[in-house]
Amino acid sequence: LSFFLSLFFLLSTAESQVVGPHQPVVALVDDDVILPCHVEPAEDVTAEILEWTRSDLNPRFVHVWRSGQDLVNTRNPSYRGRSSLFINELKRGNISLKLSKVKLSDEGTYECSIPLMEKKSFVKLVVASDAATSPVISLSGIDKNRGGVVIQCESAGWYPEPELLWLDGEGNLLSAGPTETLRGPDDLYTVSSRVTVEKRHSNNITCRVQQRNTNQSRETHIHVPGKCS
Ligand SMILES: *[C@@H]1O[C@H](CO)[C@@H](O)[C@H](O)[C@H]1NC(C)=O
Ligand SMILES: *[C@@H]1O[C@H](CO)[C@@H](O)[C@H](O)[C@H]1NC(C)=O
Ligand SMILES: *[C@@H]1O[C@H](CO)[C@@H](O)[C@H](O)[C@H]1NC(C)=O
Repeated sequence: LSFFLSLFFLLSTAESQVVGPHQPVVALVDDDVILPCHVEPAEDVTAEILEWTRSDLNPRFVHVWRSGQDLVNTRNPSYRGRSSLFINELKRGNISLKLSKVKLSDEGTYECSIPLMEKKSFVKLVVASDAATSPVISLSGIDKNRGGVVIQCESAGWYPEPELLWLDGEGNLLSAGPTETLRGPDDLYTVSSRVTVEKRHSNNITCRVQQRNTNQSRETHIHVPGKCS
């Protein structure tokens, strides 16, 4: 019997694991976000030591739960007053962390762990700026060689770094010069690019700035008169 009991114990401890999300979690600056993490199969972890850490920080502790309460002293000052566990969920093995008023510096890889059970999982947080401005298109000059006008597009306030695309009236990509990227002291990106619109394909031109990871996109259209107008 004791053999079966210890086998059962081995199997059940071997099976239990800490699970995080498969995808990065995306949050906008100033929003609140939940970093998901739970024990599978569900078990009460209220009495365990629970740690949320970021190995790139010093001190690395984002949130620590010990002896049935939050341990405040060891926490990294940057998270003071902004992190919390869902205490009523701990008995269901849910150790998800709530972060309030997300900052750009919160972006990173978080480790959710139960150190004494030697179990951990990682949660990647991507923080996006919601300050992106609509692209501004302006006339930049005349390209005599190619017989067209050069227009410039600029958009500011992005994070993470976005890409800038020029499209013609049919939605085809136009080949443009390289996108210039500037990073301001607020860590936000400004991107700009120029394109020559030749008279023969003068039409409804779109400048689109997009950030794929965060599904953000802004665009502006301009109508460039063609040869006959
Ligand atoms: C854990 O609790 C949070 C907050 O209530 C909830 O959003 C999340 O879905 C829960 N996770 C699981 C696995 O139950
Ligand atoms: C230009 O194209 C966009 C879509 O690509 C459309 O929304 C807009 O109305 C068009 N503008 C003109 C002046 O045709
Ligand atoms: C972005 O959009 C795709 C498809 O619409 C969706 O599957 C994905 O979850 C979205 N990502 C975010 C961060 O909203």
